[in-house]
Amino acid sequence: SWTSASFVDEAIAKIKAEVGDKKVLCALSGGVDSSVAAVLVHRAIGDNLTCMFVDHGLLRKNEAEQVMEMFAGEFKMNVVKIDARDRFLGRLAGVSDPERKRKIIGEEFIRVFEEESKALGQFDFLAQGTLYTDIIESGTATAATIKSHHNVGGLPEDMQFELVEPLNALFKDEVRAAGTELGIKDEIVWRQPFPGPGLAIRIIGDVTADKLEILQDADFVVRDEIRRSGLDREIWQYFAVLPDVRSVGVMGDERTYAYTIAIRGVTSSDGMTADWARIPYDVLERLSVRLVNEVRDVNRVVYDITSKPPATIEWE
Ligand code: XMP
Repeated sequence: SWTSASFVDEAIAKIKAEVGDKKVLCALSGGVDSSVAAVLVHRAIGDNLTCMFVDHGLLRKNEAEQVMEMFAGEFKMNVVKIDARDRFLGRLAGVSDPERKRKIIGEEFIRVFEEESKALGQFDFLAQGTLYTDIIESGTATAATIKSHHNVGGLPEDMQFELVEPLNALFKDEVRAAGTELGIKDEIVWRQPFPGPGLAIRIIGDVTADKLEILQDADFVVRDEIRRSGLDREIWQYFAVLPDVRSVGVMGDERTYAYTIAIRGVTSSDGMTADWARIPYDVLERLSVRLVNEVRDVNRVVYDITSKPPATIEWE
C-alpha cells in the first residue's frame, strides 16, 4: 500500500539515478505541486537544482516573500527570484478582456522564463510538478509543455529539456501527504488552488497597481478570517474579487464613493463543478466589518451566491 515515506525514499532514489550530476531547472510557483516537486528534487541532488520564481506582481499579499523565506531560507534551496512586476503590469495596462489578460500573462511568462533561464546557464533537465490527473486531463504530457491548459502559458516549445516529473503517478491528496512528509509547512501543503494569471482575473476591467493593492489587502482579510473560523479545509476556494464598481456609502458624516468587494467561497471536489459555500452569517458579518475597516477605498461587501454551473468559480 502507498505510504508517503516510502514514496519519498523511492522518488529520491529514482531522481538521483535519472539525473546523476547534471543540472536541473524548476519553475517554482509557490503552489503545492511545484513546491513538492522542487523539494523532492532538492533532496535528491541538492545544489544542482536551480529554482526560478517569477514574481509577476499578481500574487497574493506577502506571497513572494513567503515563498523565498520557505525555500531559499528554510530549505536552503537555490532559488532565483525574478522581479517582473513592472513588465507584467505594463503589458496589462488598459486591457480588460479576460482572455486577453490570460494570453498576455502566459506569453510574458514564457518570455521572462526564456530570458532569465538563459542568464542562469545551461540545464539538462526541467523539473515539473505534473500530477497523474494533469496527464489524464491533457491526454499526454509532451516534452517541455506544462499543463498549458491550466498553468501560466506553459513553457517555450523550442526549449529542449528532459523532464523530471516525480509526482506524475500521484493524486493531489498523495502530493499533500508527500509534502508533509518532506517537512513543507501546512500553509503551502494545504494551499487552495490559485490561478496562474493570479489576481489579474479577479480584477474586473483593467488592472492597475492601485486596484491590485486593494484586492491584495481584501484577499488577505478573506483568507485570514476563513482560517480563523476553521473553515479553510472545508471550503475549496475562498477569495475576494474586485468588480469594477463603486457605489455610494456613508462613513461618519461623510458621503463616500468607493469600491465594492465581492467574496467568493465555493465547495468542490475538483473545481469542475462547485457549490457556493454556506459560510455562517457570523463569519460573513466579521468579513464585512473587517473588509470595510481594514481595506482602503472599500465601502460595500457582497457575497456571491452562484454555483458552477452556471457561473464559474473565478469571475473571469
Ligand atoms: P473556473 O473559474 O473555470 O475555475 O470555474 C476552475 C478552477 O481553475 C482555476 N482557474 C485557473 N487556473 N489558470 C489556472 O492555472 C487559469 O487561467 C485559470 N482559470 C481558472 C480556478 O481558480 C478554479 O480552481
